[in-house]
Amino acid sequence: MSKYDLLFENNKAWARRISEQEPDFFKNLSQQQAPEFLWIGCSDSRVPANEIVGLSPGELFVHRNVANLVVHTDMNCLSVLQYAVDVLKVKHIIVCGHYGCGGIEAAMTNSSKGLVANWLNHVRDLLHRKSDELDKIDDLQERSNRLCELNVMNQAANVARTNIIKDAWLRGQEVSIHSWVYGLSDGLVRDLGLSLSSTEEFEALKE
Ligand code: CO
Repeated sequence: MSKYDLLFENNKAWARRISEQEPDFFKNLSQQQAPEFLWIGCSDSRVPANEIVGLSPGELFVHRNVANLVVHTDMNCLSVLQYAVDVLKVKHIIVCGHYGCGGIEAAMTNSSKGLVANWLNHVRDLLHRKSDELDKIDDLQERSNRLCELNVMNQAANVARTNIIKDAWLRGQEVSIHSWVYGLSDGLVRDLGLSLSSTEEFEALKE
């Protein structure tokens, strides 16, 4: 059997396994979704959102793109954010980057070509803004890891900067934004400590 055909076999086995454990699982899930979490992460195949945090279908609303960016003109990301906040009323928004991110490394070494290079210019902008701190780190891997962290915190601030979040906080809706980094080599997430839950917290933020 080809690897492609195997996907259908895997799917059948997966659906059977879940139905055996909980016969009404798919029927119930087909009628509504009420996730408490929105995940904004990297497209990297090694960072599967649900699996990392042990959540089942229905528990995590997900948006992924190269280098987990929140760009203010990206209608795709903003539409996901708006639906998650205004309709699903998620309580937590997790921006999760990862060490060893190819997008971050390509931005740092200026090595990407084509459209993705344009996308990664958002990271290069950040790189220039943070060059004082980053230039002091000699080791290339360490510098790249630090840029991964700075990027996550910058994107979390970008989430807070949207009208979607500003309006939600203004009407008293409880929603917090978190900054995480995932380690490919140990499978663990680290909370970078930058969490934003109110307009006051966002305004006090020194970027
Ligand atoms: Co990545």
